[in-house]
Amino acid sequence: MDMNNLPNHVGIIMDGNGRWAKARNLKRSMGHKAGADNLEKLLKHIFGLGIKYVSVYAFSCENFKRDADEVNFLMDLFVKMFGLKKKKFVKDQIKVIFSGCTDNLRSDVLDSMNNLMDATKDFDNHVFNVCLNYSGRREIVDMAKKISTMVVDKKINTDDIDEELVNKYMYQELPDLDFVIRTSGEMRISNFMLWQSSYAEYYFPNTLFPDFNGEEFDKAIMEYQSRHRRFGGYDEKK
Ligand code: FPP
Repeated sequence: MDMNNLPNHVGIIMDGNGRWAKARNLKRSMGHKAGADNLEKLLKHIFGLGIKYVSVYAFSCENFKRDADEVNFLMDLFVKMFGLKKKKFVKDQIKVIFSGCTDNLRSDVLDSMNNLMDATKDFDNHVFNVCLNYSGRREIVDMAKKISTMVVDKKINTDDIDEELVNKYMYQELPDLDFVIRTSGEMRISNFMLWQSSYAEYYFPNTLFPDFNGEEFDKAIMEYQSRHRRFGGYDEKK
């Protein structure tokens, strides 16, 4: 692995928890629990390599269509993880931020999110962005509403709207995603960080998320490093 050519911002669509559980005759929720345990170890590995930004897809707005039992289990898991792991995030100096909207979220979930954000807000070596109750299209719609309100209020002119300003009014102001991994063999973006992934490289390992460990991540990085990113220009290496 070339430590001088690591992505600055990695996105992970954590897919396959349900299938992982099914293969073991367990309830789907046990797959989410295994996914959460894996995420903790994986984050340590990724930040340990020196990667600065990690975004994960924890819960999409569409996930509310799942059975109430599964949704409640996930919400309880978030509250538990954000509470229990707060000390660890603080010790490791990881800033935790959230992307998504607040509609339909339980107040204990919102409280645990606000609590964790507040406890880690002054760090900036590592940033962990959790997409929770997130939809990429909704993020763009919400940005459009914020910016149009500023135009109506005459705080800015239409001519002031450029890519930098749009990025500033997404849920979080983040650098572009360099690399997006979706586990479990599904090859879809499913509304994940549409604006931020415009120039990202994609990687779709067959491994189910609870099994996607540090070794698998390193393999992914080597694949990333073997690709030539051109950003619409010519290939410098040719
Ligand atoms: C998709 O797998 C996974 C999810 C909808 C939940 C992801 C959440 C976690 C890994 C929990 C930990 C997160 C945090 C931030 C503490 P799936 O259920 O669609 O799997 P399937 O496609 O095999 O059914």
